[in-house]
Amino acid sequence: MTASAPMQVTLKLATSLDGRIALANGQSQWITGPEARAEVHRMRASHDAILTGIGTVLADDPQMTARPDGALANRQPQRIVLDSQLRLPAYAEILTGEPVWVFHTGGARSDLENVELFETEADDGGRVSFSAVMQSLAARGVGSVMIEAGREIAGAAIRSDCVTRIEWFRAPRLIGAEGRACIAGLGLEELSLAPTFKRMEVRACGADLWETYQKG
Ligand SMILES: NC(=O)c1ccc[n+]([C@@H]2O[C@H](COP(=O)([O-])OP(=O)(O)OC[C@H]3O[C@@H](n4cnc5c(N)ncnc54)[C@H](OP(=O)(O)O)[C@@H]3O)[C@@H](O)[C@H]2O)c1
Repeated sequence: MTASAPMQVTLKLATSLDGRIALANGQSQWITGPEARAEVHRMRASHDAILTGIGTVLADDPQMTARPDGALANRQPQRIVLDSQLRLPAYAEILTGEPVWVFHTGGARSDLENVELFETEADDGGRVSFSAVMQSLAARGVGSVMIEAGREIAGAAIRSDCVTRIEWFRAPRLIGAEGRACIAGLGLEELSLAPTFKRMEVRACGADLWETYQKG
């Protein structure tokens, strides 16, 4: 981990063609194909840390490890969960392996093993302040973070203006408006204020499209 350069924050999205991450009933596995999932594992291995939200942990119970060729990569990213109220189940898959960093806004849990708890200031909505988490990670020498979460954390990341790169895998299938959007509300009233990114690359990834954007 390096602290000298500004932190690289990658938001990874895997969606339908119409930008949905799940059906209305929450089913999301798997929207994109095996080639995209393999790229995601390579991406995980190339970041210092991987960050998700408690919503994803409760919905999918992921391991969030880097397994580029099916097996655990030698270098594993630090796994991070934003969980304001410490709802993390003690039996969650993510708690196996290296210790997980859990950012919360207060309280205690004596039954959680294999975690490092970080009490953090709350944002206006009473949730873990995203900006405070980023500052805390930078102070701990984390140089790159990959966000792999649902729409709530993706929205908080965009609102905090910390996302430097978007890696977007888009499957050639449509889910429709009742499906779950990939980014929560940004509260925009002026188009000129919409966060804007520069397209860097577009390529095929199996049946999917893989787009890379950099903060403009
Ligand atoms: N296709 C993809 O790329 C992809 C990737 C991951 C997940 N998913 C899907 O996303 C869905 C879950 O979405 P989600 O939005 O519920 O999950 P999420 O974004 O992973 O987690 C949301 C939760 O994080 C907590 N949180 C802590 N700090 C926060 C902050 N500053 N801002 C916002 N939330 C904060 C909140 O719970 P507290 O208030 O309790 O802290 C919130 O409910 C699942 O269906 C999953 O399959 C899709």
